[in-house]
Formats: sequence, C-alpha cells, structure tokens
Amino acid sequence: MSSVAAKNHEFGCACHGNTTTGRQTDVTVSACLERDHHEIDAILNDVESLVRRGEPSAAAQLFGSFRTRLQRHIEAEEEILFPLYEQLSDHDGPTRVMLGEHAEIRRLMATIAEGFQRPDITQLLEAIRKLARALSVHNMKEERVLYPGTDDALSLDAEREALVARLREHLAQ
Ligand SMILES: [Fe+2]
Ligand SMILES: [Fe+2]
Repeated sequence: MSSVAAKNHEFGCACHGNTTTGRQTDVTVSACLERDHHEIDAILNDVESLVRRGEPSAAAQLFGSFRTRLQRHIEAEEEILFPLYEQLSDHDGPTRVMLGEHAEIRRLMATIAEGFQRPDITQLLEAIRKLARALSVHNMKEERVLYPGTDDALSLDAEREALVARLREHLAQ
C-alpha cells in the first residue's frame, strides 16, 4: 500500500500524526496550511471576544476579514490541493468528505454574517462556537491525513516547494 493509500485507509482515525520521509527542506504543505489554520482560528477567537465584550460593530468588521481569509484558504484547498491529492492517491473519498465539511463551514459563516445584521449576543456566541467546533474537527482531519499525505507523496523537494508556492500565492490574493 502506498503511503497516500495508507493514509486514506486511516482517514477519520485520530491516532496518527505527521510523517517525514527524508526531506531536505521544511517547506511543506503541512507547515504552510497548518499555520494558516492557526492564524484563522486566532481571528475567530478575537471575534468571539469582541462579541462577548459587547462590541458587535467591531466584531462584525473583524468577522468580515475572517470570512475572506477562510474563503481563500478553502478555495486554495479546493482548487489546488484536493485535485492534486486525488491524482496522487487515486482516491477521492477523503476530499469528498472535506468538500462536504467546507459546504457546512460556508453555511455557518453565512448564518453568523446574517446574525450580525441584528445582533443577539447569545445567538451570535452560540453560532461562533458552532463554527469554531466544526473548524477544529475539520482542520484536524486535514492536518492528520490530507496535508501529510500530499507531502509524503511528493518525494521531490522541488515539487513540494512549487506546490507550497502556489498555495501561498492563492492565500495572499
Ligand atoms: Fe479545509
Ligand atoms: Fe484547511
């Protein structure tokens, strides 16, 4: 079984971490996109704090930045990473699950954006926490399966670095 196929087999299991296989550089999909996850999570955390402090206007503004940033992340995955992962692994099960979760994440973001039109603090906090939970579960699957699976399948540093450069370019748009 190839390393990507093995990772597919493990999909959904929370007991496997990253593997590294003789890389010469630390430019990896895992490092690039995990960092983006953490930065995006921190913004949502700040949105929640502003709502809790009774500052819905500032929270709404920051949520707008958060949404743009997360949309870009999701697009980079859907347009660049997932098609490549499917090609490398000859398997679309994990990416189909991720696409379904992206749809749910987009729906939750739309609900929060609507909530800011007529802010009800309790409902907003509940919706934000629901999104934070969905993101936590989703990100963990990507970080344990899709990202390391792609890194492991791209054995040439140059190939991996080119992919990371494309992802970074998309995230910076
Ligand atoms: Fe994702
Ligand atoms: Fe992600």
